[in-house]
Amino acid sequence: MKITIDGPAGSGKSTIAKELSKRLGIFYLNTGLVYRAFAYVALVEGIEDENILDVFEKPMEVKLGIGETKVFYKGEDISHRLGNENIGKRASQIASIPEFRERINQFFRSLVNEEQALIEGRDAGTHIFPHAPLKIFITADLKERARRRYEQLKKEGLNPSFEEILKAIEERDKRDKNRPIYPFKPPEDAVIIDTTNLSIEDTIEKVLNLLKERSWI
Ligand code: DC
Repeated sequence: MKITIDGPAGSGKSTIAKELSKRLGIFYLNTGLVYRAFAYVALVEGIEDENILDVFEKPMEVKLGIGETKVFYKGEDISHRLGNENIGKRASQIASIPEFRERINQFFRSLVNEEQALIEGRDAGTHIFPHAPLKIFITADLKERARRRYEQLKKEGLNPSFEEILKAIEERDKRDKNRPIYPFKPPEDAVIIDTTNLSIEDTIEKVLNLLKERSWI
């Protein structure tokens, strides 16, 4: 069983995907984290867009777990260092390079292979696993998404500015939606869940009910 969960930044998709992976006991692939890890590698190695495929030659490793995806660079766990908007911005830039997307999608498919997994991202249901039997698209109002990202960064001990986050998310949404190749949009056969007024638990219940309706759990 493969389940894809896509949605924009701050929609709550990561929290929901992580928790669902735990409850279902299946692997969790956070594709955004892997984009960020490659963006980190590009930044520290000084790799520009024209040579972006070089990042695949660097010692970056991804490990899938239940409820977690971890990324290692030169053997060191860098998973918790990738949350800032600078890395998010670079990730969004490299994400608009067609050859990079094709290569990273192959990378994701061979990583998951035949395993049961929950794959979270922007195009998991449209391009990475277009034949996944259940595709979820999670969304929420822009302001609510910015508020959630703000709270999350504060919890991580940072001192974020709400206005800056709002602007950054808006810009990132625009870039992701308007890129000429692989523009970000919901899969046609996705179940769309708007979480603006839903709690995490309500959203998880909704997905679990979908699985029950299909007799998968
Ligand atoms: O989900 P996130 O904010 O961590 O993702 C960072 C960036 O990576 C996002 O702006 C766009 C890109 N991305 C993508 O294009 N496709 C994915 N499946 C995941 C992320």
